[in-house]
Amino acid sequence: MSPNDQLGPTVFVIFGGAGDLTGRKLIPALFDLAQDRGLPEHFAIIAVDRIRLGDEALRDRLHLGVNQFSRFGKPKPAAWKQFAGHIHYQQGDFQKLPTYTSLGKQCRKLEKAWGARAHRIFYMATPPSLFGEIPKYLGEAGLAKDREWSRIVIEKPIGYDLASALALNATLAATFTEAQIFRIDHYLGKETVQNILAFRFANPLFEPIWNRRYIDYVTITVAETVGVEHRGGYYDHAGALRDMVQNHLMQLLCLVAMEPMVSFQADEIRNKKVDVLHAIRPIHEDAVSQCAVRGQYGPGTGGGKPVPGYREEEGVAPDSQTETFVAMKLFIDNWRWQDVPFYLRTGKCLPRQASEISIQFRAVPHQSFPPEASLGWQPSRLILSIQPEEGIVLGFQAKYPGAKMQLRPVVMGFNYRESFAAPSPDAYETLLWDVMKSDATLFMRADQVEAAWQLLMPVLQGWQAAPPSDFPNYAAGTWGPEEAQGLLALGHRWPLPTELAPTGRKKGKNG
Ligand code: BG6
Repeated sequence: MSPNDQLGPTVFVIFGGAGDLTGRKLIPALFDLAQDRGLPEHFAIIAVDRIRLGDEALRDRLHLGVNQFSRFGKPKPAAWKQFAGHIHYQQGDFQKLPTYTSLGKQCRKLEKAWGARAHRIFYMATPPSLFGEIPKYLGEAGLAKDREWSRIVIEKPIGYDLASALALNATLAATFTEAQIFRIDHYLGKETVQNILAFRFANPLFEPIWNRRYIDYVTITVAETVGVEHRGGYYDHAGALRDMVQNHLMQLLCLVAMEPMVSFQADEIRNKKVDVLHAIRPIHEDAVSQCAVRGQYGPGTGGGKPVPGYREEEGVAPDSQTETFVAMKLFIDNWRWQDVPFYLRTGKCLPRQASEISIQFRAVPHQSFPPEASLGWQPSRLILSIQPEEGIVLGFQAKYPGAKMQLRPVVMGFNYRESFAAPSPDAYETLLWDVMKSDATLFMRADQVEAAWQLLMPVLQGWQAAPPSDFPNYAAGTWGPEEAQGLLALGHRWPLPTELAPTGRKKGKNG
């Protein structure tokens, strides 16, 4: 790897350094960054965890993860050896001060050897129960006191509800300033998610019609074919609303609905996003069923094979009331969006993997074509495909060849794979790079997290007060419970599964 001189000396500390996230995501992303962009000349990863492990044993473990998850495939032995030399292990209890004091010593030792001061990044890849603890110890050990040189990284779940999110943010704020805190929502690291801003604000074409005058409704779908896999223990205490809607879907909604930013400054963009959350019409606890539907999958099929129901998954209670599907209808009360419904849905064990935003335009104000010309007529629609397809498709009307005027829907598309030779980095590569550069644009600010919880609290409370009587209410391999249709206004519809593959070309692996 050739060093990258954009970044200064860095010590990257991972709490939970022997854990799953580190092996599957963090180390492969850092390795790929090393290959692609280069890491600083003076760079060290200190993995901290409870288990007894030596440097070599840890490196061997992480090597397996890189073999499996690096986007460059299995690394050449020399490339791995060079990278692995930067990894060190420190055994320690996350709830004991000596762990942090010896971490401080190790950082100072590295700085002495490098002859330079280093940025210190503390990544909490631990169970959420430790999120409130680690910052306190870092503070006590004096590891956070230099505001310019230390940063903390935290992943969702940022709290379990509004009260716990406020408490967690307060704990973080007791030791770190907001500028030092990087809250990860990995959706923001996806190229296609960042492209929403590029598409909306780097092209003058759509902005004039991006409002209630021309847009009838918007749907945001994040559909997964997988069930809860090995994460039943966590998921059964979370559910789809906390796991997906509070963060990933809210981020997508903000990017679609926000006002144009004045500059590309992190806080300018984040202010505009928070404005959206503040403008969403509050949900009343006694009217939850009019704007939110929950579902849980029962036995069904997936990939042509029988799939067990959610309640049969490992780590899930046999009478679990946890939702694996959510559909919502939201309104944004401002000049741009008044009365335009935003329909959101996400679920596990659905028939197709597809994350898509569909912008449905209004019908033409006056239909001047003869009725027989427009039998297949459909109002224009724009689909922003996040994954597995990566691109944008505009559906519009064209004249069908022949003597008569006949209209038919056609599509015009942009596809990342075909338009750009450059491969897309993994979201974690982008995000870890930005942490190292101290660029907070793609990270969640405390007020945004809290505003999202505030909006969803009545739903959580309403659902808790009235447990579902019909779970499981959709079969694995179907598009969720029937009730999700009932959220839609007359004439509105969720995009059909066949429409979710933008250009009708080769579909992704789950397609
Ligand atoms: C995670 C959720 O945040 O996002 C998972 O905890 C979900 O339940 C995952 O499967 C989806 O991410 P992606 O990038 O695969 O769409």
